[in-house]
Amino acid sequence: MYILGIETSCDDTSCSILRNREILSNITISSLREHRKYGGIVPEIAHRNHLKVIGHVLKVALEKAGISLKDISLIGVTNYPGLKGALLVGVNFAKGLAFSLDIPLIGINHLHAHLFANFVGNKYRIKFPFIGVVISGGHTEIMVVNDFDDIETVIRTVDDACGEAFDKVGRAFNLGFPAGPMIDRLYQKKYKDAFIFKCGKIKGGLSFSGIKTALIYKKMELERRGCLSRSLKEKLLSSFQESILRTIVDSIFSVADKYKIRRIVCGGGVVANTRFREMILSRHDLDVKVAPKHLSVDNGAMVAGLAYYLFKYKKKSDAIHTLDIIPN
Ligand code: KG4
Ligand code: ZN
Repeated sequence: MYILGIETSCDDTSCSILRNREILSNITISSLREHRKYGGIVPEIAHRNHLKVIGHVLKVALEKAGISLKDISLIGVTNYPGLKGALLVGVNFAKGLAFSLDIPLIGINHLHAHLFANFVGNKYRIKFPFIGVVISGGHTEIMVVNDFDDIETVIRTVDDACGEAFDKVGRAFNLGFPAGPMIDRLYQKKYKDAFIFKCGKIKGGLSFSGIKTALIYKKMELERRGCLSRSLKEKLLSSFQESILRTIVDSIFSVADKYKIRRIVCGGGVVANTRFREMILSRHDLDVKVAPKHLSVDNGAMVAGLAYYLFKYKKKSDAIHTLDIIPN
């Protein structure tokens, strides 16, 4: 069967066509460039951009896949979580298509889709249960995944997501937006403990807001004293990255040990980070999957993939007239 996946939860407008779990096309237009000068995502810009380009993105996705609209037999669309206006564009578009083609439609949880990105475009067999990890600009969550539709979050951040903390720090250091990839590049292992920055834990959740502020204050203090050299900046950023990633990876390992689950599946933009990959792959007793870069960022293929699994194994589909976005 051919499945169309539609993703519009943040700044990426993405449509993908799968033939079962094989990716035929995965086309994305991002409004990221337009947000850069503001140092973060501006919802209004994202919403309007989705509206402007979504028809074109679908057309290109169909052309690349070599099929026409009437060949599609299932649509998956992200309906939670995300920017409300952005989700509305994708969901409304998907509803119109499903209605006119008279085919099933499934609202997809974006975070769950990030996990199942590991199981599209390859032959990996999905074995439950596994520990699911999503680290992105909007979320940092560790989940216990018992089935396609039985997923429980056991740890999340109580304030800034990991990528958000990276991006905010990047703004203070003039690294451009998004800053995660730049911090990744500037990281040097020899500086990982140059400064001691500690992440907080509040009511069992992770907190990255305090460490972000501590780093920015330290930078300002060094600046005032006139001694903020390039290498000191690298030391600050390396110690900051090390502490955040160490905290996340230690939490993942402790959840795996607590639940006695040896399989770990990771997705979300931050899992592209070199140091994260090194840390998470360090435990040889664990079977760890990390989504490849083109599938770890937001994309339509992961949405189509989860829709396919939910339809095939759980007989799931949503009523077109009631499917709605879910408030965050
Ligand atoms: O999953 P994603 O593409 O979009 C969201 O759903 O948020 O993640 C984007 C986030 C940004 O905060 C960005 O700074 C971060 O992922 N990021 C990285 C790296 N590549 C992207 N963070 C650290 N190291 C990287 N290599
Ligand atoms: Zn995402």
